Amino acid sequence: MKNEKQLIKIFERINGRGYKSYNDIKGIYDFEFFTLHIDHVQRDPFAGPSLIRITTGSKSFPEELIKTDNQRIAVSDYIGRKFNESVEKHSDNKMGSGKSGLIHIDSGGPEILDRTSVNISPEELEIRFSVGLPASGRRILGGKAKILFSDMIPVMVRDSCIYQNICPEDLLEHVLIHEDSEFLRQKLKEMGLVAFVRDGALLPRESGVSEKTLNNGVPFKSPETLKISLNTPNHGVVTGMGIPEGVTIIVGGGYHGKSTLLNAVERGIYNHRYGDGREMVVTDPKAVKIRAEDGRRIENVDISSFIHNPPLNKDTSKFSSENASGSTSQAANIIEALEVGADLLLFDEDTSATNFMIRDERMQKLVSNDKEPITPFIDRVKELKNEHEISTIMVMGGSGDYFEVADTVIMMDNFIPYDVTERAMEVRKEIPINRKIETSSKFRYNNRCPVSGCIKPFKGKKLKLDVRGKTKIMIGQELVDLLQVEQIVDTSQTRAIAYTMNYISSKYINGKLSMDQLMKKLNKDIETYGLDVLAPRGRRYPNNIAKPRIFEVAAALNRLRTFKVKGCQ
Ligand SMILES: Nc1ncnc2c1ncn2[C@@H]1O[C@H](COP(=O)(O)OP(=O)(O)O)[C@@H](O)[C@H]1O
Ligand SMILES: [Mg+2]
Repeated sequence: MKNEKQLIKIFERINGRGYKSYNDIKGIYDFEFFTLHIDHVQRDPFAGPSLIRITTGSKSFPEELIKTDNQRIAVSDYIGRKFNESVEKHSDNKMGSGKSGLIHIDSGGPEILDRTSVNISPEELEIRFSVGLPASGRRILGGKAKILFSDMIPVMVRDSCIYQNICPEDLLEHVLIHEDSEFLRQKLKEMGLVAFVRDGALLPRESGVSEKTLNNGVPFKSPETLKISLNTPNHGVVTGMGIPEGVTIIVGGGYHGKSTLLNAVERGIYNHRYGDGREMVVTDPKAVKIRAEDGRRIENVDISSFIHNPPLNKDTSKFSSENASGSTSQAANIIEALEVGADLLLFDEDTSATNFMIRDERMQKLVSNDKEPITPFIDRVKELKNEHEISTIMVMGGSGDYFEVADTVIMMDNFIPYDVTERAMEVRKEIPINRKIETSSKFRYNNRCPVSGCIKPFKGKKLKLDVRGKTKIMIGQELVDLLQVEQIVDTSQTRAIAYTMNYISSKYINGKLSMDQLMKKLNKDIETYGLDVLAPRGRRYPNNIAKPRIFEVAAALNRLRTFKVKGCQ
């Protein structure tokens, strides 16, 4: 192993030369209190930046803070944020041309996710980040490189990787909140709940495109009848609203906070960091948001429980479309989620197809059942609960028909929830309706086996797996749109999904394993080998992927234009 002095010598030697000479710095260097690994050197100042790792002992961190996987995820997350803060304070991205001087670490947004940028274990702490090596045009700026590596990076490491230099109370709270959120989520099942919203939580965001907490939002306050008290390991008794299993309807006037509550429930599959407002707002980890998504592709999905005998008589038990309608896309989204194990479905009337959700008494009279291919969700929702143990939470401000099937009715009034279940049942009696349940067969969903070779990650001979922001993945020749897969929260998850396509394609997809089996294998591999296992060859130490759920991985597969399955079982 070389040392810091030798690295500086190289910088002096290659100063003023062509960019290619930066290749000479590839290698491992011993610094005063850490080891520097230069794994990849960029081709020019405008290319993807160089990849750097720092390894150092983790001994300065208290052992009891890094015992469990959950603790290690939270501590790693915290260190990444601290490193990033230090980058913002000390780095200088005007060191030269292109990305010269730019340092980037994948440090995340409001959620605490398992990600590859920081890895702490009782033995070692590893930080992965990227650096733009400084140059003027294509000429190496050795002096600047020396400042970057000898002055700046050590400060960033010092600020984030040494326990004595960070605020211990702050870190502790970060870990404790994460642990308690996990605890609460695990409690849900045994309490017969599907979600828990903590009293005092701040759910609204600054705007539709911002994840920042809205200032002066009305804090959440549970109705007495739904209030649950739980004794958490770290924060004592925590109270909040427990949403029971079954069918829950969220009603209320427009702008009273219905969608905001549902969004918080949607995001409750992730833990939020201290200060976000949604800490300890937790949801069943198998919750999937379902929406209409016209235009998406569908590949051999059995949507016959919702759509049957459409004009032109397509067989809807093996329904495919290059350009699905609102209702068929929503039906497919449900079946595909159930296929990989979803047990809580979330709907918002704002993003649902009306004809998929409801079909009222008058319409049943006017348009007879044999002329309507759609069996609305209202006719399946009870069956899903009773026979398949699948719960539903739905925002439905526009139709009282759902009172017929609801177990719990929550009304949002000026951002405060009220339990109006009893009142809704009275209204049901006062204004009886005679709509009929129009199901002719039992609810069913299929289990498809992707055929080998249907994922095509190569463009010519080159592996192409990339992202365009959070909502699109490039895979081979294809751009896959994930804009409406709403529970992806981080570009690093999207990138992991892109990698996953390649991983399961080369490793498991063989025409015999079902979607569910594939996803189980994937999860098991991530659990056993860590997220790094997903990285394609040549990217041995990925520095910017975060763990996606299998539901979002499956969603991406289902949206590939090349995706092909055969039915099994
Ligand atoms: N607790 C709250 N405090 C303050 N503003 C809120 C709160 N909840 C929601 N809002 C804001 O009120 C507006 C309407 O909320 P939304 O959830 O979209 O209502 P709905 O779905 O009932 O029409 C949004 O701009 C949202 O940010
Ligand atoms: Mg709304």
